[in-house]
Amino acid sequence: MIEVKNVRQSYGDHEVLRGINLVLPEHKVSALIGANGAGKSTLLNVITRLLPLREGAVLLDGRDMGDMKSRDIAKTIAVLKQSHHISIRISVEDLVAFGRYPHSRGRLTTTDKAKIGEVIAYMRLEDIRDRYLDELSGGQRQRAYIAMVLAQDTKYIFLDEPLNNMDIHFSVEIMHILSKLVGELGKTVVIVVHDINFAAAYADHVIAMKDGAISAEGPVDRIITKTILDGIFGFDFNIAEVAGRKVCLYFRDETTRK
Ligand SMILES: Nc1ncnc2c1ncn2[C@@H]1O[C@H](COP(=O)(O)OP(=O)(O)OP(=O)(O)O)[C@@H](O)[C@H]1O
Ligand SMILES: [Mg+2]
Repeated sequence: MIEVKNVRQSYGDHEVLRGINLVLPEHKVSALIGANGAGKSTLLNVITRLLPLREGAVLLDGRDMGDMKSRDIAKTIAVLKQSHHISIRISVEDLVAFGRYPHSRGRLTTTDKAKIGEVIAYMRLEDIRDRYLDELSGGQRQRAYIAMVLAQDTKYIFLDEPLNNMDIHFSVEIMHILSKLVGELGKTVVIVVHDINFAAAYADHVIAMKDGAISAEGPVDRIITKTILDGIFGFDFNIAEVAGRKVCLYFRDETTRK
């Protein structure tokens, strides 16, 4: 279980996380939503130790993550950053193999190789496994990075805007894969997502952030409501239900076209 206790983070005078307390629900897909600058990436980066923690604590099964070795954390928590740039020329397969590093430390065993093959198939990357990352489309590259994260085979998976650059087909496919990882393999997944309809359709739990704080948190039905979304985004939301799922439409509250 991951618990976030009174985490605060500032850049100069700007307080970006203002006392976050959170218990991440186990074996669920949680969606972290909120406007640009709300603090989503900062929170994700602090939890996963991509950013050093300034104040508060993050506990993993009751243990302060600050006291844990990076390698042990990397075997438990995988993270896809919002922006990832690798300057070396590397193939899809080598990138995915890189995800095995916490297990293999660079010497791939048969188990590692099997896992890499499995993830490449899972993410439908077989046809482009030998291609270099700089020869791929944005969406193909994003799929390769997600495959790298899945190859790490951790209990917790954090993805910051994984649907970036993805077409509708692959966005749905990714959300389906994440649901399967939870349902079939018992993983716990946290994703930052801007498309509220994807959160509404595929997440189990929603954490809504505004101005460095959590303004609402709970199951989809309780959070994807007009009152909460209007408050978070400052828009006039219309929420309909289609095939048992909530669908959000958003408008500015003044008419811009005559
Ligand atoms: N390295 C940094 N130095 C100074 N300020 C930063 C830095 N990183 C983030 N911030 C500020 O912290 C606040 C929260 O940023 P964060 O990236 O966590 O937002 P976000 O919710 O992920 O937004 P987005 O949806 O745009 O990705 C923003 O006001 C941002 O300008
Ligand atoms: Mg962000």
